[in-house]
Amino acid sequence: GLGTRSQVKDLIKKGRVAVNGQTEKKSERKVDLSQDQVQADGQLISYTPWEYYLLNKPQGTVSATEDNRYPTVVDLIKDKKRKDLFPVGRLDVDTEGLLLITNDGNLTHCLLSPKKHVDKVYFARLTGTLPQDSVKRFQDGLVLDDGQKTRPAQLKVLNPGSSETEALLTIHEGKFHQVKRMFQALGCQVVYLKRISMGPLKLDDSLKPGQYRPLTAKELRELKDLETGRDEAK
Ligand code: URA
Repeated sequence: GLGTRSQVKDLIKKGRVAVNGQTEKKSERKVDLSQDQVQADGQLISYTPWEYYLLNKPQGTVSATEDNRYPTVVDLIKDKKRKDLFPVGRLDVDTEGLLLITNDGNLTHCLLSPKKHVDKVYFARLTGTLPQDSVKRFQDGLVLDDGQKTRPAQLKVLNPGSSETEALLTIHEGKFHQVKRMFQALGCQVVYLKRISMGPLKLDDSLKPGQYRPLTAKELRELKDLETGRDEAK
């Protein structure tokens, strides 16, 4: 943030930059951003190229960076250092749950790529009665209202026989309103929807709707493995 590459080299040459309190005149000097303190004209330089937050999205917020009607999920991240954060994919305004907020475009591309088939698990509460053969019908793929066929999805009914069904659904793609439309295809209405995991990321019980935290080093490593394809070798 100090200027162009050559302007910064010039600052360094003039002795205006210090590493760990020592003037450093060589611009090829490598620094470790996790340990070394860099100052320019006595001011500490901080640099955060990438940020990653796991948000429990509350209802009534929109998965976008700007909106005229609703607060955005990015507005909820009060500690952010960067101005270029965005949500990885979309949850509906009335959907809660796990949403990754970052500015890492490559990782986002990978998580949303249909080729990667990243698992997303949703908890849904439904009205209406699911047919007996629902598990098989989700597994075989359903035809949505617009004629699109879905990839195999895994349904687990949590409270068989209850009047208001609660279920977990794992999908591996991300069509518009996909979960709601899949249940609709079987004659049920989703009345509450919450995403509880996406690939290696799981929603913490500790995060209430509206709360967030930075990803842990382990979570980030697992996401990066996904990006580089290392997980596929396992
Ligand atoms: N499927 C939906 O229908 N809505 C969401 O918010 C996410 C998946």
